[in-house]
Amino acid sequence: LREHEEFTKVKNIAKIELGRYEIDTWYFSPFPPEYNDCPKLFFCEFCLNFMKRKEQLQRHMKKCDLKHPPGDEIYRSGTLSMFEVDGKKNKVYGQNLCYLAKLFLDHKTLYYDVDLFLFYVLCECDDRGCHMVGYFSKEKHSEESYNLACILTLPPYQRKGYGKFLIAFSYELSKKEGKVGTPERPLSDLGLLSYRGYWTRVLLEILKKHKGNISIKELSDMTAIKADDILSTLQSLDLIQYRKGQHVICADPKVLDRHLKAAGRGGLDVDVSKLIWTPYK
Ligand code: ACO
Ligand code: ZN
Repeated sequence: LREHEEFTKVKNIAKIELGRYEIDTWYFSPFPPEYNDCPKLFFCEFCLNFMKRKEQLQRHMKKCDLKHPPGDEIYRSGTLSMFEVDGKKNKVYGQNLCYLAKLFLDHKTLYYDVDLFLFYVLCECDDRGCHMVGYFSKEKHSEESYNLACILTLPPYQRKGYGKFLIAFSYELSKKEGKVGTPERPLSDLGLLSYRGYWTRVLLEILKKHKGNISIKELSDMTAIKADDILSTLQSLDLIQYRKGQHVICADPKVLDRHLKAAGRGGLDVDVSKLIWTPYK
């Protein structure tokens, strides 16, 4: 019921200011009621505290000593850094991030128990600090083998490959855990497009290397992608036949090449050698 209410609620905040960007919002987000009457919210780009007036933000920036998200830097390659933020240790940050993210996520309830989540915040860093590009959240313990709860690339950074980077990163964490993973459902249209693109490219490259002689189980072990997601991706590419009660991969090299061309560029890669991380215990 609560969820349904939120679906149908009209957009409350029209714009936000974050770092050097002014961003038009997409959806309703359940900010505390005292913020609902203001057309624009001003966010501190580092601690994600939000304010109603520009002057308040300016005053805040003089005393805020963060220059990057709180938590541990677990990845750095060139100007890209990833920070892991524990929602229990940084509750206010986690809540602020959820309020912000909900402005761009339609069908998610994501702001209840930040304690139970880790937040992986991707930043572009320069001499002024580490500027958030996007993030994903992950349950500390998932019964359903979810390896990602919510994913967002902030609008000014979309369509540059960061979404696929975040998705790839979530699977690298699963590989380190020795588990398969899948994103929490439902996926948004843009979420599904991004996942389909990632799964397609990763699977096609392996199939090509192994000339199609590989099972779904082996693909799953290599990629940490859940078998169901592999099956649905390969089915959508028409690479699966059903023989004697079993799904078998039928990958003609010419068909693989054609699909690989259509899959476009890979985007930003995760350099696993730059990931310093141990699973949450
Ligand atoms: N139109 C068409 N295709 C798109 C679009 C778009 N606007 N955006 C992404 N895609 C597809 C493309 O195939 C693209 O690959 P390409 O650029 O090589 O063609 C692919 O998705 C991924 O593009 P990226 O640049 O890697 O992804 P981006 O940084 O834009 O982030 C994301 C994708 C995170 C889904 C972003 O659109 C977003 O934040 N949307 C709002 C929040 C959302 O819907 N999140 C997913 C909810 S589901 C969940 O959280 C489990
Ligand atoms: Zn701040």
